[in-house]
Amino acid sequence: MSTPSPQAMVIQRGDYRAPSYQIPEIILDLRLDPENTEVLAHLHFRRVAASPVAELPLNGEALELLSLQRDDQVLAEHEYRLTEDGLVLLNPPETFVLKTKVRLHPAANTALSGLYHAGGQFLTQCEAEGFRRITYMLDRPDCLARFTVTLHAPQKHCPVLLANGNCMAMGREAEGWHWARWEDPFPKPTYLFAMVAGDLAVVRDRYRTASGRDVALEIYVAERDTAACVQAMDSLKRAMRWDEEVYGREYDLDRYMIVATDSFNMGAMENKGLNIFNAKYVLASPETATDSDYQGIESVIAHEYFHNWTGNRVTLRDWFQLSLKEGLTVFRDQEFSADQNSRGVQRIGDVRRLRAAQFPEDAGPLAHPVRPEAYSEINNFYTATVYEKGAELIRMIHTLLGKTQFRQGMDLYFQRHDGHAVTIEDFLAAMEAANQRDLSGFRRWYSQAGTPVLRASGSYDPVQHSYTLTLHQETPATPGQSTKEPVPIPVRMALLNTQGQRAPLSGAIEGPDGEAVLLLEQREQSWTFVNLPDPVIPSLLRGFSAPVRLESAWDDEACGFLACYDDDPFNRWESIQNLAVKALLAAVADSSVTPLPAVLRDATASILRDDALDPAFRAELLTLPSEDYIGEQMSVVAVEAIHRARDTLRQDIGARFAEKWMALYHDLAAPYQRDGLAIGRRRLRNLALSHLIASDGDSREAMALHARQQYAQADNMTDRLAAFQLLVQHPHHDAKDILLDFYRKWHGYPLVIDKWFSIQAATPRPETLHQVEHLLVHPAFDWRVPNRVRAVLGGFAANPTVFHAADGSGYAFYAEQIRRLDDINPQTAARLATPLSRWRRYDAQRQQAMRAALTMLADKAKLSRDLAEVIQRSLP
Ligand code: ARG
Ligand code: ZN
Repeated sequence: MSTPSPQAMVIQRGDYRAPSYQIPEIILDLRLDPENTEVLAHLHFRRVAASPVAELPLNGEALELLSLQRDDQVLAEHEYRLTEDGLVLLNPPETFVLKTKVRLHPAANTALSGLYHAGGQFLTQCEAEGFRRITYMLDRPDCLARFTVTLHAPQKHCPVLLANGNCMAMGREAEGWHWARWEDPFPKPTYLFAMVAGDLAVVRDRYRTASGRDVALEIYVAERDTAACVQAMDSLKRAMRWDEEVYGREYDLDRYMIVATDSFNMGAMENKGLNIFNAKYVLASPETATDSDYQGIESVIAHEYFHNWTGNRVTLRDWFQLSLKEGLTVFRDQEFSADQNSRGVQRIGDVRRLRAAQFPEDAGPLAHPVRPEAYSEINNFYTATVYEKGAELIRMIHTLLGKTQFRQGMDLYFQRHDGHAVTIEDFLAAMEAANQRDLSGFRRWYSQAGTPVLRASGSYDPVQHSYTLTLHQETPATPGQSTKEPVPIPVRMALLNTQGQRAPLSGAIEGPDGEAVLLLEQREQSWTFVNLPDPVIPSLLRGFSAPVRLESAWDDEACGFLACYDDDPFNRWESIQNLAVKALLAAVADSSVTPLPAVLRDATASILRDDALDPAFRAELLTLPSEDYIGEQMSVVAVEAIHRARDTLRQDIGARFAEKWMALYHDLAAPYQRDGLAIGRRRLRNLALSHLIASDGDSREAMALHARQQYAQADNMTDRLAAFQLLVQHPHHDAKDILLDFYRKWHGYPLVIDKWFSIQAATPRPETLHQVEHLLVHPAFDWRVPNRVRAVLGGFAANPTVFHAADGSGYAFYAEQIRRLDDINPQTAARLATPLSRWRRYDAQRQQAMRAALTMLADKAKLSRDLAEVIQRSLP
């Protein structure tokens, strides 16, 4: 296998050229063998460039060429050239059929890109550029082909043979082999190609579309997992209905297949008619999956389904447009989940994720615009910026245009571009044309990296009875972009009077819910609201209407007021978070300061008292900001002080309200149910348990006993795991027996064992590093399974005091593992390396240690292009 050179070419967005040939038809024939698979391809070429070309390069990687013919003639030496990254056809005719035969080695493909053999199954992952590891081809999204695929395999090992589209024929052949032929009537780019072969059971259901067509739904899993597909199937049907109701989009094939695997680099893949999924987003039973696992399944199943229109029917011209499908599809899956569950709680979770992953990315050396300008390895751009910030941009367009107008824009987008490979520009143009709106300023959101800082100040004029609000924006410099223009920021807002009621918004255009949407387009603008007999407090950026950092001039009293009275759930949550962050930062700066000042205490008390509040929302309000989020608010992250302050605050809140927590813990106990209310109650109850265990009072020991009992007797994984985690991570608790017990119970369930690994790796204790070394040689650890690797290394990197240990031991250890992983799975190695890029956020000693870790990696022999790019951008 050839390793890409680290100084690989940088691809520039501006260099896009339309292909000189199209391949409208491709016929594939695969003889599947784990060691040596043979792939025969017939590619029907048609020149689209006006004049002949001297060279036609086809992509190919890690392929062994066995034969090469053009129109049934063996190609002569002067008619082609083999290169490091493919095959160049010299002076090709205007139309021709190219026949290639190549050999590949699926079992050795631990990168899990292209065709690989893992867990006894043959699987493919072609996005972004995996198809070139299967056969020579124009492996680019603007080449759409109709695929006919024949699979051959031994019947015994691979009774199931699947590919995109419809199964046209099957048959037996010599020596116990069999075959199946599949045809996909929809032309598609190579990245949407998929095939699966293996010994799989199938769970079937049916769906009738709005226009009355019947669709067969099939989920392929291991035989023992067939009972664990209920949530996946149910989510799929709900997603299909939702896309019909909200966007008027129906499914277009007779069959929709989902395959689950333990060996997958990402969450899931939207291959036409044949989605391939990380098992984590398919399998769930109450005994093995937590409530958040269930929610993850619902959203990823929906996400991949929604891609059928936003991604597949309308696809990408080139990879710089990735957010065209991903940002839009994340927005669609977030809205789907908001409609299925509580909208406010969903929004809080979405923003929490955005801030945890995208804000740090946007503030560091890996910052890039939602539509990047350059890449060397496209797999490094499946980022929180392209996905989550991309979704926020779509959400802002939705806010600016309104729901009906947004739908009109979507309709026009589909009408204009169905069956084509297009750009973000085409999407914006459709939104504009359908609504006679001008979004030219909005385009800056796609080209400019960095998170804008929005500063708000206001004053009430008791004589004029008016309130003037001033908003100011500024985007910090990011790599390669030193000066920034203002961007249009939609600020949803309301005014509240001192009784907590809405005050009129005379002076601004009022929206449908009695809110206004202010559009800040300049660096600074002011708005004056009149007819206000009493002072008011503004509720700004409701629902987090733009992906910015809001810095408001409100004092603690105003924040405390909003934490109790704001009628926007997101903003209410935000206010209490702000109070907690402020208190924690004060305690970080001076350890003698209490992290539980009166305003925060009173706000907490009022939420704890409010039994009428939705329990899920109540749990959100009472959940403390994470250590990472607190660190994000500091110029230099004070690792230990943050950990201490947050622990103390948790303890103080636990002790101060011990009685109330205890009452919640007892009152919320209930037999397992799956509805939203039950989920919220579990969450709140486990939060109570964590506060009680953290508290320093007499209750602590008693609660540890409760936790042991909950661990032993829980009738569901949410409760069991919550207790397990508290006990394992408890500083005064010996966890050996419970770790053993858990492993013994669940060793047959890889997804549960991932939790076992990650909770240990995330335990904030000095001896964790040593323990993680042991985990890496545990018999159940496997470098080839990304979920397992992520459980341990991802868990470790999310463990602030251990990963960021002052002596640099965490970094050195971590980099060593990344180095090892790079030889096995470059994509996952590059992704896991990104926490090291944040070195500028730490003190001098840590900076040095983090840089040393990166330098050690940079010096690695046979560094992958993936990891090389991350390091090179991290260490300019
Ligand atoms: N398109 C997939 C999604 O639904 C992600 C696939 C990314 N795969 C990769 N190797 N980069 O988001
Ligand atoms: Zn996607």
